[in-house]
Amino acid sequence: MSKRSPKTDVSGFKSEGDLNISPHRQAWLEEHIDPETKAWLDEDAKYFLRQSLSTPCLNVFKSCDGIYVEDLQGRRYMDFHGNNVHQVGFRNPRVIAAIKAQLDELPFCSRRYTNIPAIKLAKKLTELAPGNLKKVLFAPGGTTAIGTALKLARAATGRFKTISLWDSFHGASLDAISVGGEAIFRQGIGPLLPGTEHAPPPDPSHCPFQCGTQCNLQCARYIEYVLEKEGDVGAVIAETVRSTPYIPPPDYWKTIRAACDRHGALLILDEIPHCLGRTGKMFTCEHYDVVPDMLVIGKGLGGGVFPLAALLAREDLDIMPERALGHYTHEKNPAACAAGLATIECLEADGLLENARVQGEHALRRIGSMMERHPLIGGARGLGLLMGIELVKDRKTRECAGEAAERVMYLALGKGLSFKITMGNILTLTPPLTITREQMDRALGIIEECLVEVSR
Ligand SMILES: Cc1ncc(COP(=O)(O)O)c(C=O)c1O
Repeated sequence: MSKRSPKTDVSGFKSEGDLNISPHRQAWLEEHIDPETKAWLDEDAKYFLRQSLSTPCLNVFKSCDGIYVEDLQGRRYMDFHGNNVHQVGFRNPRVIAAIKAQLDELPFCSRRYTNIPAIKLAKKLTELAPGNLKKVLFAPGGTTAIGTALKLARAATGRFKTISLWDSFHGASLDAISVGGEAIFRQGIGPLLPGTEHAPPPDPSHCPFQCGTQCNLQCARYIEYVLEKEGDVGAVIAETVRSTPYIPPPDYWKTIRAACDRHGALLILDEIPHCLGRTGKMFTCEHYDVVPDMLVIGKGLGGGVFPLAALLAREDLDIMPERALGHYTHEKNPAACAAGLATIECLEADGLLENARVQGEHALRRIGSMMERHPLIGGARGLGLLMGIELVKDRKTRECAGEAAERVMYLALGKGLSFKITMGNILTLTPPLTITREQMDRALGIIEECLVEVSR
């Protein structure tokens, strides 16, 4: 098994509370940040609570447009990160127009009242969702929607235990980090929720069952083993595909779906970052021909403008009319819902799911040919426009090339391409679904140039 490096994001900030600033980050700052930007960064550091993976900030953005973000100094970057909110591109004209119109009419709606954009968005989502996911609750963020799903699962099954996956992320609140599987979010915070069992994810390169290069579903069968041993698990909760990305094999979800059914557990799929087309389908579970009991979506649902998430639940899970389930101030925010509706209109009218498939396949082919020239690339995988390039020191040992990955990231940033690194050595690429082939080729060209420089 290869050894993992701590998670690194675009700030170059290591996960394990490592306050040492990386030399690559430092070099980038010295080369690219002028006194005005530096002054704003200092102000940011003065007023905001520090936290890993978010601070210290690297740069100050001034504007964004389509696949680009622009910094204070007027430099433009292709944003292949975008926190996965930018399916339709930043400042998409249709989304912005819908929001502006809604702001002029009804920008807020108090609880116990409703509004037309909220009703229309709920209707649209239930029409798009697979199976019997006919009931909706909006939430002002993915984490809160996950919390709602966990509460509903307890109420529906009378069981409090869950099974989730190591390395997973479901948000940063206490309930979400209890089911989440990343140490950085869990350590030193406990006690966490009781009954949160964890199982290995479908990640062949770190599989405790040593499945080799291809997942052989032992990890999926292990979930059934835990369901059976515990006997009273209420829900299995997992990301359909992990952002890293891990792309489970075709039968993975069918195996787990069947196990949940046999043991009376609900299946909750978290598609917060990849819903609405990133993988080439509206919902990722459609790739697996599986319908969960609850599906949680978010991020791009707010059009890259508003925090908006949704829990889609099986119709017969509408069982809590007498108890508070979500109860959020912004649970039917009209402007956010107008943004959501406009986002879906763009996805449909502009053929963005098809574009995600086409550009994703093209990119993976091109990365495959880069692999022949660059031994540093240990593997590449993707689904639509969720892609990862894994850098290794040696293809046989698969030892993580974390240092090289970080250098590539900062070099690419210097050439106008922003992306993040996950698991310490995976260049994770999630561009807007509006990307053109020419833009994709330019971005991959930058990555290749950086690989050449790093290998020298
Ligand atoms: C898989 C997954 N679940 C949940 C969340 C939490 O969403 P939010 O930040 O909107 O609360 C995230 C955010 O990155 C995520 O990637």
